[in-house]
Amino acid sequence: MSASTQISAQPLSQNTHLLTWVDKIAALTKPDAIHWVDGSQEEYDRLCGQLVEGGTFTRLNQDLWPGCFYARSDASDVARVEDRTFICSLSKDGAGPTNNWVNPYEMRKKLKELFNGCMRGRTMYVLAYSMGPIGSPMSQLGVQLTDSAYAVVNMRIMARIGMPVFAEIDKGEKRVVPCVHSVGAPLESGQKDVPWPCNQEKYIVHFPETREIWSYGSGYGGNALLGKKCFALRIASNIARDEGWMAEHMLILGVESPEGEKTYVAAAFPSACGKTNFAMLIPPAGFDGWKVWTVGDDIAWIKPDASGRLRAINPEAGFFGVAPGTSRRTNPNAMDTLARNSIFTNVALTPEGGVWWEGMTDEPPAECTDWQGNLWTPEISKQTGAKAAHPNSRFTAPASQCPTIDPAWQEPEGVPISAFIFGGRRPTTMPLVYQAFNWSAGVYTGATMGSETTAAITGTVGRVRRDPMAMLPFCGYHMGDYFRHWIKMARNLSETPRIFHVNWFRKGPDGEFLWPGYSENMRVLKWIVDRAHGRALGRETPIGWMPRYEDIHWNGLYFSKETFDELQKFDSAAWKQEVLGHEELFIELHDHLPSELVYERELLICRI
Ligand code: OXD
Ligand code: MN
Repeated sequence: MSASTQISAQPLSQNTHLLTWVDKIAALTKPDAIHWVDGSQEEYDRLCGQLVEGGTFTRLNQDLWPGCFYARSDASDVARVEDRTFICSLSKDGAGPTNNWVNPYEMRKKLKELFNGCMRGRTMYVLAYSMGPIGSPMSQLGVQLTDSAYAVVNMRIMARIGMPVFAEIDKGEKRVVPCVHSVGAPLESGQKDVPWPCNQEKYIVHFPETREIWSYGSGYGGNALLGKKCFALRIASNIARDEGWMAEHMLILGVESPEGEKTYVAAAFPSACGKTNFAMLIPPAGFDGWKVWTVGDDIAWIKPDASGRLRAINPEAGFFGVAPGTSRRTNPNAMDTLARNSIFTNVALTPEGGVWWEGMTDEPPAECTDWQGNLWTPEISKQTGAKAAHPNSRFTAPASQCPTIDPAWQEPEGVPISAFIFGGRRPTTMPLVYQAFNWSAGVYTGATMGSETTAAITGTVGRVRRDPMAMLPFCGYHMGDYFRHWIKMARNLSETPRIFHVNWFRKGPDGEFLWPGYSENMRVLKWIVDRAHGRALGRETPIGWMPRYEDIHWNGLYFSKETFDELQKFDSAAWKQEVLGHEELFIELHDHLPSELVYERELLICRI
C-alpha cells in the first residue's frame, strides 16, 4: 500500500483509473490528508465553518445575508493571470500566436518540481464535477484535486459536484478531464496558515491533447475554479473542435414576447463588459408583457441537434460575477440572486456584518473595511482614491436563485439559438447595433471584435485590444483554426443563427455615453429578435444592416433621432483605422486564416 492510500479517506469512486491517479498525485504533492468531496450541504457547512475558523472566511450577518460568507484574498492574487496561462500543445503552432506556449515535456518537468510536496500540511480534496447538467449528452466530467477548501466551496456553487458525479464517472462512459490545483503554499509542521495562501509564482497550464489542467500558485477565480475558464473554455474548445461543436464565452438568454414566442440568443462580450447584466435584463417601461429569461451569464456550449439547429447549454451552475457596479438599479435580478447562500470575495465589509461595493448604493456607507482590511470612509476615498472593493471583486451565487432563471436552463438537450451577438466596450467607431450580412461576414465581425481592457485581468485597464469572439484569453488552440471552425460549423446547420454586433459604450464629443444601456438594451434586443425571425426592417450600410430610428420600439423612452443617428453613425475615416487594426491581428494569424475571412476583409475595404 502506498503512503498516500494510508492517509486517504474512504474513496467515493470505484474507478480504478481515478483511484490510481489520486494516489499518484498524492504521492507527488504529499498532502497530510485526502478528502473525497461528497458535495452534500452538511459537508459544505463544515468546510465553510473550517474556513471561518482559519480566517479565510467571515460569516456575514445572517439576518442580513443568510448563508453568506466573505473572503479577502492576498493583495497579489486578485484576477486571472493571462501572462502566466499556458497552452502546452505538442507543437507551438497548435497553440498559435495568441497563447503562451511552452514545450509540454519541459512544462511537465517544471510542474513536477513545483508540485513536489506542494500540499504538505494541507488536505487534498478530490472534487468530482460535471460541467452541464448531470446526464446531459452535452455535459463533460472533470475531477479537480485541490488543496484549497475555498475552491471546493466555490465549485459547489459553480458546478454540479460530488456523489452523483462519481456515479457518472463510475459508469465509465465519458472521458474525465484531470485537473490538479495547488495554492503552492505547503505548511511546515506547526506553521500557522495565512487566511489566503498563494504563491508569487503562478502557472495555469493546459495540455490540450491529453485534456489535462494543472494550476499552481493562485486561489482566485478562473485560476482556481478549474471547471470554468480552464475546462469549459480552453480544454472544451479543443474537444468541441474535434467533435464538431462550440465552446464559447457567451451568455444565453431567452426573450419571451407577450404572445408567448420564445427566442434564445447567445452573446459574447469580453470579461467585465456586462454579460451578467444583459443575461438578467428586465424589460423597461413600454415593454408590457415582455420577459427576458436567463440561461447562463458566461459560457455556452453549443451543438447542432439532429435537425441541424444549434442548441446551447450553460455548463455552469452558478454566477461568478463582478460585484462593483451591480445594484438594485443596474441589475435587481443579480441582487436577488446573491442575497443568500453566496460567497463574496474582495468586496468591502460593513460594520453591520454586510458587504458593500462601489455602485451598490448611491450613498456609500459612512465607513467600512476595504478589501485589504483597512478602514475606508468616503473622505479617505476622496483624498487617496482608494476603492472599498477591488474592481475585480466577485460574488459566487447559485444560478437557481436567479428570479429570471429560465425554466429550461437545465434541459439536457439545451435551448435553440436564433442569434449570436458580439460586443465590446468601444468609446468610438462601433454603432449601437448592426447585423452582419451573412454567416461569414458575421464570423468576420466576431473575429475582429475589439474592446477596452477591464480589471478582470491583471495589466493596464482601458486600452482597446482585439478580443476575437471574447475568446482571446480562452481559446485553447490556434485562433486562426478557431475561426475556420466557426466557418465550418455552418455546413452542418439547416439554418444559421443571424449574427449581430452591439456596443453599449459609444461616447459623444462631450465624453458622455450616448446610450443609457441596462434595461434599455431591450430595445436593441427586440430588433435583433425581430430580425432573427425575418420581420424587422433595416437599412444596408457598408458594415451591415442597421435599424433606422423608426425600426426601434421607443415606447416608454424619449430618445431623440439626433442622438440615435450619432449612436449609429458610420464614420468612414474611423472605419479605415479600424480595418487597419484588423490587419494587425490577421498578419499574426495569416498562415491559419480561413480564406473566407480574407475575402470578407477585402469586401469590407471595398465597401468603406
Ligand atoms: C470571468 C472572466 O470571470 O471572464 O468570467 O474573467
Ligand atoms: Mn467570463
